[in-house]
Amino acid sequence: MTPSKIESEIDKSLVPVHIGIIMDGNGRWAKKRRLPRTSGHYKGAEVFKKITRYCKKIGISVLTVFAFSTENWQRPKEEVNSIMNLLRTYLVDAFGFKDENIKIRFIGNREALDEDIVKKMEELESVSKDFDGMTLNIAVNYSGRTDVLQAARRLAESVKEGALEAENIDEKEFSKYLYTYPCPDPDLIIRPSGECRLSNFMLWQSAYTEFVFMDILWPDFTERDLDKAIEEYINRDRRFGKI
Ligand code: IPE
Ligand code: IPE
Ligand code: MG
Repeated sequence: MTPSKIESEIDKSLVPVHIGIIMDGNGRWAKKRRLPRTSGHYKGAEVFKKITRYCKKIGISVLTVFAFSTENWQRPKEEVNSIMNLLRTYLVDAFGFKDENIKIRFIGNREALDEDIVKKMEELESVSKDFDGMTLNIAVNYSGRTDVLQAARRLAESVKEGALEAENIDEKEFSKYLYTYPCPDPDLIIRPSGECRLSNFMLWQSAYTEFVFMDILWPDFTERDLDKAIEEYINRDRRFGKI
């Protein structure tokens, strides 16, 4: 593949530091091909790997992907099981990322996950903790509201223990308790699949994020689609309330 403009010409200081991706459209991709929804998730997982490598290649510092939401438990049991099994396979496989120097972190509530999955997650986080090529946050059983809630709860605990004064809780302090800490807020969130909503992804963190919604299903997503989203981001005027 010939290098794209983003890979070769764009000033690296212009690319987003932190990109979030809502990996959506696996089910519709499979349906279009008369395949079971599971095969869409398999293809989606392959695309996830490819796009992660590409993000590192073009100098993205943090990539946060939405893999499974708290609300996704409401899907049929077979579909949830197949996604969890896929996660298992990938957690083993993901050790391939070791050679890529990628720090892997899981964000979301682990309590509802099977023990073996949690163990693998912890292993992967521990093995990759000093890698500095890129940080990859994988959101599993994640909900933006729960993220804010668990932060509020832990802050309350800190106040109760006397480690923190309530009047010292400001945005900076609050952010320290979010799952994504110490990563900066996402500059760009990409959602393929044609849906134009956040579906409970990084609510607090996306206060000033640029959104790019794309009419493509995640399993069809390519490096060139990521380039397009980044080009659109580069052309946006981020004002942060100023003029
Ligand atoms: C995203 O694809 C994967 C998960 C939510 C786990 P979907 O499974 O939501 O695909 P669509 O939206 O039904 O096409
Ligand atoms: C969002 O996709 C969650 C993930 C991609 C993991 P959904 O498919 O669950 O979102 P809705 O239901 O269309 O809002
Ligand atoms: Mg969906």
